[in-house]
Amino acid sequence: MRPLRKIIFPAAGMGTRFLPATKASPKEMLTIVDKPLIQYGVEEALAAGMDEIIMVTGRGKRAIEDHFDISAELEANLKSAGKSKLYKAVSDVSRMAEVVYVRQKQALGLGHAVLCASPWINDEPFGVSLADELIVHDKPAMRQLRDVYEATGCSVVGLVQVPESQVHRYGIVDFVAEEHGLLRLMNMVEKPAAEDAPSHLAIVGRYIFTPALMTLLKDVKAGKGGEIQLTDAIAALARQEPVYGVLLEGQRFDAGTPEGFLQANAILGLQHPDYGDGFRQALKGWL
Ligand code: UTP
Repeated sequence: MRPLRKIIFPAAGMGTRFLPATKASPKEMLTIVDKPLIQYGVEEALAAGMDEIIMVTGRGKRAIEDHFDISAELEANLKSAGKSKLYKAVSDVSRMAEVVYVRQKQALGLGHAVLCASPWINDEPFGVSLADELIVHDKPAMRQLRDVYEATGCSVVGLVQVPESQVHRYGIVDFVAEEHGLLRLMNMVEKPAAEDAPSHLAIVGRYIFTPALMTLLKDVKAGKGGEIQLTDAIAALARQEPVYGVLLEGQRFDAGTPEGFLQANAILGLQHPDYGDGFRQALKGWL
């Protein structure tokens, strides 16, 4: 089995569900407590041993590049002011990973964004992570997927159970249960109506693929919403070789929407070792 080192972060979407906040700032830079979403995503990938990062960005996304770049002046200021904790926080971010940036010139869909990264994949297995899906657990979501990839050598996607009223927002899978608790995916449908949904298990932004996925993606035509859908390529892959699903453990927030973002900030704020107690006190009069 080829080693799994690469991970693609598609971050070129328009973020329409979070307008006007995302008009001029990337959705991936929305802050949960004290870090932007994209940093949570990169930290999760690194904790899962995936340290070759390919970020797919587009117009108006320069702040992502700046965030992972060295800011010499800021670092020097913090150092000379003796602000060692802040200095460490800032310098760690710029040194945590090597990141390659690829431009998606038009937002033609998630599948197209992944395809834009294909020159960097070189026939290797790779992860894909959507940073606006924030998943928090001691065992990082990407590590949960990686364990299945290493046990099977097959592609694997992260799943969560969603209520019927929400299936129209997600890619929903059809599956058969196999030995050892694995779910083998037979098909998937992008944003189905509740009556057409094959299950209530939704794909939620964490994937590991064999290189065959890239080959199939090249032939995917624009589907639902006129976009090149990653889901269509996964469905084609599942007809060709086993693709597994993993029910992800952890707290999950759809932080690319105002509602999920608020929940993430409230819950992770209350749990935060430095800010949790003060935040709880401050909220008392309001609840
Ligand atoms: P979303 O479905 O969340 O779309 O994309 P979006 O445009 O970001 O946000 P909404 O739905 O308009 O509010 C899922 C992921 O795929 C990326 C997004 O950046 C996000 O990480 N994406 C989507 C691209 O990189 N390019 C695209 O053309 C579409």
